[in-house]
Amino acid sequence: MKFGTELMRQADALGQFTEDPPRVTRTYLSPQHKQAGEYLIGLMRRAGMTASFDAMGNIVGRYEAADLKAPVVMTGSHQDSVRNAGKYDGLFGILTAIACVKDLHHRGKRLPYTLEIVGFGDEEGVRFGVALMGSKAMAGSFEASWLDKADESGVTLRRALADFGGDPDAWPGLSRRGRVAAYVESHIEQGPVLLNEGLPVGVVTAIAGGSRIRVTVTGLAGHAGTVPMGSRQDALTAASELVLFVEKHCETHKGLVGTVGKLAVLPGAINVIPQQVEFTIDVRSGDDALRRKAVAAMQSAFEEIAKRRRVAVTVSPFYAADAAPCDSALQQEFADAITAHGIPVRLLPSGAGHDAMVFPAICPIAMLFVRCGNNGISHHPDETMTAEDAEIATSVLLHFFEHFDAAAFAVRR
Ligand code: GLV
Ligand code: MN
Ligand code: MN
Repeated sequence: MKFGTELMRQADALGQFTEDPPRVTRTYLSPQHKQAGEYLIGLMRRAGMTASFDAMGNIVGRYEAADLKAPVVMTGSHQDSVRNAGKYDGLFGILTAIACVKDLHHRGKRLPYTLEIVGFGDEEGVRFGVALMGSKAMAGSFEASWLDKADESGVTLRRALADFGGDPDAWPGLSRRGRVAAYVESHIEQGPVLLNEGLPVGVVTAIAGGSRIRVTVTGLAGHAGTVPMGSRQDALTAASELVLFVEKHCETHKGLVGTVGKLAVLPGAINVIPQQVEFTIDVRSGDDALRRKAVAAMQSAFEEIAKRRRVAVTVSPFYAADAAPCDSALQQEFADAITAHGIPVRLLPSGAGHDAMVFPAICPIAMLFVRCGNNGISHHPDETMTAEDAEIATSVLLHFFEHFDAAAFAVRR
């Protein structure tokens, strides 16, 4: 196998850079981010690229075109992970692109464009609560106020960047606005569609948009043994009703998914009525209007429930990203590459978020999905991909890179 076995080995090696072994957890600007970045920079350099960290901790490799005035095409994905993650989410998109360049370099072949491979520092948003900060810096949509966001230990992004060796004030210079012809990303599907249809790869049509909301419910603490049931202001039972409203609303409105993934109870004692509950909501849809209506419906239902249960509720939306359509001409280029491998072309939407979704603001995007094993489970240690599928996906991506005429593409669009 030309690519697959080595890619699996590299994904295993990167899985060792984790904050809580044997689980895979690698958050933005952690020492493990630095180690993974150094490993990837080593791979990039050995593949014939120049490579280094940028001021935001993104890992940036360049395979220069022979003509220095040639267009730039970007590819890659994220180096960070959720807590207790799989090994392929994000990293596969970086590794497969490096494998393509290594092959080109060994054949002495340059592309008619400079290929930039980026391992984005932050996509998942685990550490500072803001997702996609690495890619947003490069798409020119980073917000200066994020530098004051703090992690659970009170370390601000500004401090963490400086400690990492980055430069918190240099992000405006990282924007690629006006400087990239296209952004393409390979990613494990993180769902079961390709698996169920017996296909190794597919072409993404659009990436669902998402909203993230923080909710605080404040009731009144009291003695678990003395306060009669009818006179309680229990923050947790009220929050439970809100959580179930999220589920019901998303179940009954086709095209929506909603998740409460974090919930904290204060004071958190077995014999004290909960005083306060904080939880998060993640709502996604391919239809932005439907998603916005869902957020509004949650806000008004929460107020009604809170009033009835005599608790206070604050609802703070803190992140929103619109759905991102993939460029039809680029989808066709991927479809052609798949057809050239004798594989039927499956078009499918992405319910998961990806770095690609921030780039339509500055250039056309496309994504290649790779089959996810184990019923399509992801954001979980059982996430899996076969070496055979990694082989096919890399070969398809390489075909795409070798046939992509970036200059003509810009004119044709
Ligand atoms: C990223 O993986 C997301 O979709 O939340
Ligand atoms: Mn993920
Ligand atoms: Mn991902």
